[in-house]
Amino acid sequence: MKIEKLARKGILKIASYVPGKSIEEVQKEFGPKRWMKLASNENLLGPSPKAKAAIRNELPNIHLYPEGPCTILRKAMAKKFAIPEEMVVISNGADNLILMIANAFVNEGDEVLMADPTFSVYVNVTQIMGGMPVKVKLKGFKHDLEGMLKKVNRKTKLVFICNPNNPTGTTVSLESFNAFLSKLPKHVIIILDEAYGDFVEEAFSPNGLDYLNAKDPMIILRTFSKVYGLAGLRIGYALGREDLVRCLYQVRDPFPVHRLAQVAAVAALNDEDHVIQSIQFIYEGRRYLYKELDKIGLFYVPSQANFIFIDFKKNSEEVFQAFLREGIIVRPGKVWGFPTFARVTIGRKEDNQKFIKALKKIVK
Ligand SMILES: Cc1ncc(COP(=O)(O)O)c(C=O)c1O
Repeated sequence: MKIEKLARKGILKIASYVPGKSIEEVQKEFGPKRWMKLASNENLLGPSPKAKAAIRNELPNIHLYPEGPCTILRKAMAKKFAIPEEMVVISNGADNLILMIANAFVNEGDEVLMADPTFSVYVNVTQIMGGMPVKVKLKGFKHDLEGMLKKVNRKTKLVFICNPNNPTGTTVSLESFNAFLSKLPKHVIIILDEAYGDFVEEAFSPNGLDYLNAKDPMIILRTFSKVYGLAGLRIGYALGREDLVRCLYQVRDPFPVHRLAQVAAVAALNDEDHVIQSIQFIYEGRRYLYKELDKIGLFYVPSQANFIFIDFKKNSEEVFQAFLREGIIVRPGKVWGFPTFARVTIGRKEDNQKFIKALKKIVK
């Protein structure tokens, strides 16, 4: 029988997620080099040494199943955020939580509202469930919350607000977010994706934690992949109203987070110094990169995240190839409808200097 008949309706038409090129991929194509990956917004400082030590201690136990609900980490997070454990759910990456959200809430034909461009996984999971992604173009690289409100109707089930937004690094203002919430009908669940929330420097952007005790139907997404430097372990979490979180547990795998990720996350959560250091080098890196980009005369979108969206004023695929020749992997902007832009992860001082040196050579 034809695969079209076997697969669930619409599944074969879903455009799959295109990740940033991995070091393994470029190495296969271009040979071994000291590659610097600035394509997936990882933490270039690496993981906390305490997380690495915790993994070493846990290694002898990997023949045992992990603890299903991640009880120790869940308790630690509930304590950290001063909320009941019932408001916390942990899984193998925020990506997986986004899928769980779609599994739990999106019925066939439901509309899911989001910005354009934003994190593309929101579209994928919506389509998997037979829902309809409804995209609202960014305005001046920022969420157009008023424009999004105009698209809300009876069929709207979820609205994703990626704050800071991937790929632009922009935030919504506290005032516009509060106005948006006050006008949003209560049948719409707000998913506030704060994967990059730790890097926000400005004071006037919303922090999901401030909304947790309100009655708004809201789920906040966070991850150990960015500031905690554990992207390779795949662990993220969601916080939200108890009844919504209960729905996420209904669709959660029994053992989604392996032992090494659980112990590493507990250790990373307790390593404040590493977190502060990781945030600090992003703050410093932003200022350095802005200064250098200004000198070169390239437009960039001021960012509140650990990446910058830069207009290279030429085909970003060519820019991508030119950076590869310099041993640097960036993320071309064509996938987001910005063919002359690329998204570049901010690194440590030496990484940013290497990037600028290569950039100067390329723009020459
Ligand atoms: C906005 C946003 N949300 C969620 C994720 C997924 O994070 P995780 O690594 O925890 O799956 C990413 C990853 O890059 C992201 O950019």
